Amino acid sequence: MSISDLTLDLATYDGEVKVLDDISLDVGRSETVGIVGETGCGKSVLAKSILNLLPHGIARYRRGAIRWKGENLLATTRRRLRQVRGTEIGMVFQDPMTFFDPLYTAGSHMMEAIGHREQVKGGSMSRAQRKAEAVDLLSRLGLSDPERVFDSYPHQLSGGMRQRVLIGAAIVGKPEFLIADEPTTALDVTVQAQILHLLQDIVKDRDTSIVLISHDLGVIASMCERIVVMYAGTIVETGTKRQLLSRPAHPYTVGLTSAVPRLGYPQKQVKGIGGHIPNLLNPPPGCRFAPRCPKATSLCRSEKPALEALSDGRRAACHYPEPVA
Ligand SMILES: Nc1ncnc2c1ncn2[C@@H]1O[C@H](COP(=O)(O)OP(=O)(O)OP(=O)(O)O)[C@@H](O)[C@H]1O
Ligand code: SF4
Ligand SMILES: [Mg+2]
Repeated sequence: MSISDLTLDLATYDGEVKVLDDISLDVGRSETVGIVGETGCGKSVLAKSILNLLPHGIARYRRGAIRWKGENLLATTRRRLRQVRGTEIGMVFQDPMTFFDPLYTAGSHMMEAIGHREQVKGGSMSRAQRKAEAVDLLSRLGLSDPERVFDSYPHQLSGGMRQRVLIGAAIVGKPEFLIADEPTTALDVTVQAQILHLLQDIVKDRDTSIVLISHDLGVIASMCERIVVMYAGTIVETGTKRQLLSRPAHPYTVGLTSAVPRLGYPQKQVKGIGGHIPNLLNPPPGCRFAPRCPKATSLCRSEKPALEALSDGRRAACHYPEPVA
């Protein structure tokens, strides 16, 4: 997957929200890449833009391309996109209720996903075999009574159960590329670890690539070797987990990593980042982080920093990055 220069606005009654600005990101086969950033920074919009799932009336793709195995998904036909969705690229939505139809059981949603896979990839499983596959997956997802869950309607399931069915429906199509948008946020810590392990198993068994999205740096760091940090619709830093956690270069990453509580450090040393994400109707003209950055200068306020490689190979978008070596 290769996303290049993706720039996207959303039309609202108040004006155009400049949600994504020059996003470039490559994900290789069987790689797990984590995207982290605070609420409202554009993670879900980026995820949905990949499969063209943003509401058609309001999404304005200004620039860029999303190439999946060389094919630009922004320029392809609706028919081809329908084929790709679920079977080549799967998506775990952040909000389960945007996915579920309340009139259909959890099992119906999974059977539909398997049916779509069979149709696109050419299979001939019987209904009983499909059901067995769905129930087996629900059990692997930690649901203790998978048959009952299979026959339940979404409103009869708890938030955590719905979340697991959602993950099941996304992976049962055996996609080569999985976008998981906050897949474990609704779950308690034990189930969260179970789900993350399951996702790791899938990567190993099926060579699946995963883009894992979370506002929680701890979750991202436990799963991903490569991390992308987003801020206000831009990528501010990207590199290996080791690079970003041990020596963050961008002032926003510095704040983000210092906000993660660590064993052995008293809680008062956890600093975090003051202020709020800017209003993206009128983002700051230079660096979008300047209003909150302790190092900001007049150059930062007037000129947008490019995402450039530093001496250790990671990239950061900052006029004054921290030394990395
Ligand atoms: N349908 C929409 N119409 C108008 N603005 C939207 C829409 N969806 C998202 N936005 C705006 O786009 C920006 C990015 O939102 P997005 O949902 O991608 O953030 P996020 O990083 O996923 O946050 P969270 O961590 O809370 O999930 C926000 O400013 C949001 O208000
Ligand atoms: S470019 Fe300037 S304002 Fe932006 S993060 Fe770097 S130092 Fe801070
Ligand atoms: Mg989101």
